Amino acid sequence: MDPKYEPLFTPWKVGNVEIKNRIVMLPMEGTNMIQWEAKTGFVKGIGEFYRDRKDQNIGLFIPGLIPLISIVGEKWVYQHPEVFEPAKPVIREIHESGAKIFFQISAGSGRSMLLPPILRPFVKNRFLKKASSPLVMTKWWWSAPDPDEPNVWDPDVKMDYFTSEMISRFVYAFGQTALRCKEAGVDGVEIHAVHEGYLLDQFAMLYTNHRDDAYGGTLSNRLRFACEIVREIKKVCGEDFPVSLRYSVCSKTRGFNEGAVPGEEYTEVGRSMEESEQAIRILEEAGYDLFNCDNGTYDAWYWAHPPVYAPLNINLSDVEHIKKFTTKPVVAAGRLQFSEAAESIAHGRIDAMGLGRQLLCDPETVTKLLEDRMDEIRPCISCHGACLPFNGLNGKGTDIDPMHLEMGRCVLNPWTNNETKYRKDPARHPKKIAVIGGGIGGMETAIQAAIRGHQVDLYEKSDRLGGVFNEAAAMSFKEKDKELLLWYRQKLEQSGAVVHMNTEITDLESLQADIIVAATGAHPRKLRRPGAERAVTAQDFLGGKVQAGDHTVIIGGGLTGCEIAYELALQGKHPAVVEMTGFLVGARGICMANSTMLRELLRYHKVPTYLNATAESVTEDSVVLKTPEGTVTIPTDTVILSVGYTPDRQFAGEKDKNGKHRKPRTVGSAKLYFVGDCDQVGSLKTVIKQAYELVQEISY
Ligand SMILES: Cc1cc2nc3c(=O)[nH]c(=O)nc-3n(C[C@H](O)[C@H](O)[C@H](O)COP(=O)(O)O)c2cc1C
Repeated sequence: MDPKYEPLFTPWKVGNVEIKNRIVMLPMEGTNMIQWEAKTGFVKGIGEFYRDRKDQNIGLFIPGLIPLISIVGEKWVYQHPEVFEPAKPVIREIHESGAKIFFQISAGSGRSMLLPPILRPFVKNRFLKKASSPLVMTKWWWSAPDPDEPNVWDPDVKMDYFTSEMISRFVYAFGQTALRCKEAGVDGVEIHAVHEGYLLDQFAMLYTNHRDDAYGGTLSNRLRFACEIVREIKKVCGEDFPVSLRYSVCSKTRGFNEGAVPGEEYTEVGRSMEESEQAIRILEEAGYDLFNCDNGTYDAWYWAHPPVYAPLNINLSDVEHIKKFTTKPVVAAGRLQFSEAAESIAHGRIDAMGLGRQLLCDPETVTKLLEDRMDEIRPCISCHGACLPFNGLNGKGTDIDPMHLEMGRCVLNPWTNNETKYRKDPARHPKKIAVIGGGIGGMETAIQAAIRGHQVDLYEKSDRLGGVFNEAAAMSFKEKDKELLLWYRQKLEQSGAVVHMNTEITDLESLQADIIVAATGAHPRKLRRPGAERAVTAQDFLGGKVQAGDHTVIIGGGLTGCEIAYELALQGKHPAVVEMTGFLVGARGICMANSTMLRELLRYHKVPTYLNATAESVTEDSVVLKTPEGTVTIPTDTVILSVGYTPDRQFAGEKDKNGKHRKPRTVGSAKLYFVGDCDQVGSLKTVIKQAYELVQEISY
């Protein structure tokens, strides 16, 4: 290992608990050992999740949060000790590996409560809040420090009042729940959270707390709830039982549903750095032993959940600053990189490194670092596509589909949190497999199939692997996507699959395989409008085939279109975005942290956006739009089309009477499968998942 990483592998202490190194696995929902629904108890398969990680040189594990009270009915977790039972063996195994474990206990979300669309109408007319059946959601979930606070995900929904009686009940429950955690064998607890705009943070901040009782007004009053919790836990569990606090150093918030972006000058409505310097002293004084830090609120969610647009190590300097105001250790989080964390620890500027999504993506990350195998680490690209895939629509609700509510999984590593669903053992009847197309879908199929023992040939018609992901990764802020491409190429090379570059397949039968997998991708969609031939495709622009002028109009305000606009703005150019719907980056499955950061960046860079607008024609020097306000002509020197893709149909067969392609299932004696965009245009998530699941299917 490079000696510069050595500071990461020195012991440190939280209270009297010694931790073997400075790597902390951050809490992530989906990695919870206790479910919020007390009766369902243990999360299926989570033992396997931790077995994959417990011997991978992580010093401290903090699983995803345990709410004090269930969302449905009124079941306090501390009144159900049975739910801790299944966690005990896993805790023991973690201890046997030499690591420590803290459980995170949550007061809840307050106005940040995630609001699935299906519930919105019921909540809006207060049916769920008023009903007395134990089957409906408890009032705790709809309460915030102030009555009538707007819910983050849908401001039309107003919250109820969190009374001082409820506070006393919560403080007591925190003590009892911490005791249950201690009895289950954990080394400490973490309180969730004066952080990210959750309930306790709403109490702490002036813009969400206008109370005139003992819990409002001065900073000490606003922190009283959080301070009472730690005192109660110490009283019940003992002074030397460590209590950590999840803490946002600064809120980075301009207002409700308005976040600040890095480098922006703005007026803070939440916790400013000056206030934070005092707050951390008050919290230390109350008894907290550790501060697990980053920045943000749900109004500026991307600081706590930094997407690809957030600079690496986004919160490090603020965490380093706040450490000067406490004698207790601090952990930093948020796209934190090993070199920067090691240097910061070496200089005593932080105490430990928080790692979240990277450990979903590659459980062996730290071991690979220690063994000097850095190039084998599968890099997290901060997409949130399977760990946190909920979009927020400009404060007008969400795209959350409760039937597909998933958290804590990983786009790049489908195994994560599916350990009991998938298998890794060698294929029972190894087959000869031909994969056509060397994009991500083709590479993933080939890698997985070769690992399972199949004989694999991959055919790529061009001279490069990666397909359209090369263009997707081209933007200047996508350094991790570029690393991912390198990772895929290396992994493919090591997998044993035979790769045939510059080889176009037209005759499937000539492949003489048992299984043929078509992974030939998609083609950019065209616009049928007068003059549209003057426009260039997003793919050609990103591939460097055409340059964009100073005044570029991007037609299509989805993810790629907005990313291109941001890239051009970073170059000092003056792009504009045209979008036919009412939202930028409105697609289902994109995390709100990603979509809001992109929107806020376009706002900050003053990129004009035309919503509910359609391009009617493209002339030599303008685009003519139909907008709700009438016809608008935008002068332009370049028009980039980013309006989606259509599947490559070369092997898709004839159309049936409904116009659908009748995809052949066999070619001669070979079975034929379609993976990725050539089947149905999707996302990186759908492409990788399909490839992965296909290999699962053909390996049994
Ligand atoms: C799927 C997911 C769930 C999360 N759940 C929690 C949680 O339960 N409690 C918490 O304090 N933070 C939670 N976070 C925030 C992470 O702890 C962490 O701070 C964040 O992912 C940034 O770190 P990273 O860039 O290393 O991933 C969650 C993050 C993700 C991606």
